[in-house]
Amino acid sequence: NIMRFANHCILDLLSVCLSTGEVLAVNMTIPNTLIRGTVGGEALFSVRYSSFSPDLPVIKWQLKREKSVTIVQSIGTDIIGTPRPEYRDRILVFENGTLLLHNLRLSDDGTYDVEISITDDTFTGEGTITLTVDELISRPYIHMESSSVLELSENIVLNCSHENGTRTSYKWFKGGKPLTNETRFVLSPDQKLLTITRVLMTDDDIYSCTVENPVGSITSLPIKLTVYKRSSLYIILSTGGIFLLITLVTVCSNVFCFTTDDVHPKTTKHNGVNAVTSLYILQQKVSLITTLVLFHLVAFSAVY
Ligand SMILES: *[C@@H]1O[C@H](CO)[C@@H](O)[C@H](O)[C@H]1NC(C)=O
Ligand SMILES: *[C@@H]1O[C@H](CO)[C@@H](O)[C@H](O)[C@H]1NC(C)=O
Ligand SMILES: *[C@@H]1O[C@H](CO)[C@@H](O)[C@H](O)[C@H]1NC(C)=O
Ligand SMILES: *[C@@H]1O[C@H](CO)[C@@H](O)[C@H](O)[C@H]1NC(C)=O
Ligand SMILES: *[C@@H]1O[C@H](CO)[C@@H](O)[C@H](O)[C@H]1NC(C)=O
Repeated sequence: NIMRFANHCILDLLSVCLSTGEVLAVNMTIPNTLIRGTVGGEALFSVRYSSFSPDLPVIKWQLKREKSVTIVQSIGTDIIGTPRPEYRDRILVFENGTLLLHNLRLSDDGTYDVEISITDDTFTGEGTITLTVDELISRPYIHMESSSVLELSENIVLNCSHENGTRTSYKWFKGGKPLTNETRFVLSPDQKLLTITRVLMTDDDIYSCTVENPVGSITSLPIKLTVYKRSSLYIILSTGGIFLLITLVTVCSNVFCFTTDDVHPKTTKHNGVNAVTSLYILQQKVSLITTLVLFHLVAFSAVY
């Protein structure tokens, strides 16, 4: 090679070699070393080269795998041989060495090596371009079991669902403001699920999620979570319903149902003593009822 290089310098390009001090090499320029593609779309592996030789270059594109896969080899723009079936009809090589790959598949994701060599030049131009291939994300929607909850109820889970889309990441918004992993707002490790624990009145708001991947970002329609206040009546009805029923039955049996029978006949016959006795019995019953009601109130709060 050194001999050849020397020969060229002397015979063909003496003036260039001597005047500029440059070596004979293919100088390759790659504007973008990372390109993003979508399934079904195309990828332009854009390169260009310069060389002192007027000869056509041999261009070779390979996909890096455990064993490199040759995608295409060409002399100028003329493809040598028959490319592999998975690339046939999907490739085009331009004069400047650029490769166009269309109808992209997820399996095209990877690192591509290019080599441009010219017989006369000592050094081959080499470069590497990384291609990512992703599926476009379809519009996400928030799935939750119920759009209205009672404050201080159990956890509510919001699921940022979508049909298509690869390598997705998720973000959550409450009232348009980004949500972070906090004590009550727990994000799953992939951030796809938002769990609100021990819902408060302040959680009554609009929620949305954004799904992102290397080829796009799309936000769900906002969803409203309605939080209802727990009223004391609700507490009585939901947790103390049975106690209340027992209380009412007790009150009924003690005051209305029997007292009337007890008091009336007695007061008509013996006015003096019996009236006092009845009053005493009634007082006893009232205090019994008060005790019962108090007991049940304590029981409600204990249960609650
Ligand atoms: C290669 O080309 C770039 C621009 O295309 C130029 O800046 C650089 O000097 C060239 N290198 C050589 C060794 O010719
Ligand atoms: C190489 O040529 C193609 C097709 O003409 C063009 O799209 C691309 O931008 C060129 N690349 C560079 C680096 O100039
Ligand atoms: C998801 O992708 C499939 C196949 O590419 C397509 O048929 C379907 O319509 C897409 N779904 C949505 C919601 O875009
Ligand atoms: C979230 O929604 C997706 C799509 O609807 C579903 O496949 C997944 O099982 C859901 N996850 C949970 C934890 O509900
Ligand atoms: C949020 O916090 C919970 C518990 O502290 C943890 O399990 C989870 O992985 C965190 N999520 C993210 C996205 O960091």
